[in-house]
Amino acid sequence: MRKNIVAGNWKMNKTLQEGLAIVDALKTALAGKTINCDVILGTPFIHLACATDAIGDSKIGIAAQNCADKASGAYTGEISAAMVASTGAKYVILGHSERRAYYGETDATLKEKVVLALANGLTPIFCIGEVLEEREANKQEAVVKAQIENALFDLSAADFSKLVLAYEPVWAIGTGKTATSAQAQEIHAFIRKTLADKYGKEVADNTSILYGGSCNASNAKELFSNPDVDGGLIGGASLEVDKFMPIIEAF
Ligand code: G3H
Repeated sequence: MRKNIVAGNWKMNKTLQEGLAIVDALKTALAGKTINCDVILGTPFIHLACATDAIGDSKIGIAAQNCADKASGAYTGEISAAMVASTGAKYVILGHSERRAYYGETDATLKEKVVLALANGLTPIFCIGEVLEEREANKQEAVVKAQIENALFDLSAADFSKLVLAYEPVWAIGTGKTATSAQAQEIHAFIRKTLADKYGKEVADNTSILYGGSCNASNAKELFSNPDVDGGLIGGASLEVDKFMPIIEAF
């Protein structure tokens, strides 16, 4: 069956030293506790190698927040999926709405990134979600369906099964405005049906679909209690361990 996952996304926050202090504090907070979800930290690139050392024998997974759409070569400033994997990171967040909006990432480039991530043994945490105007026009289902179809539906069922999806309504990211529990369940169920129509029920049932967007200690339990919400992709509340831990413990 699919896993419950709570993944932090630090975005462009925390120096190396500050980041390693979070990893240490999280390790201490998790030690000896029974945790009912996988815990992942999405760190900036420069933290990855040190963070994978620092997690030690804790079960924390480390994720990059992006990787290049090319395998290697003259692409100054880019970081390849192979480089990410060589740090010991196991995951890569791809298609975050901030990457789509501010760095021009398209379904076509994301498709390349997913293929390269998988070829290098990384688990993509693939983000989808609509902007406010699309939600107000009731187009959220069409938007996420197109994002999934365009970037992911050329994958084989075996490859698709390696992905984690994250639904993040853009209007809820960093705004303090969360999707209601019912809105989250409704669209997560729609996403799972979209996967089932393409890859069959078993693949759909085994795919973890996370919710992201102002998820915090107060709303995590209710959001995660929905049958199709398998955890969260957490931005702001992942930057402090005392705010992140209650979300992890919401399962
Ligand atoms: O990747 C995380 C999401 O963008 C959510 O960010 O929890 O700060 O709203 P947030």
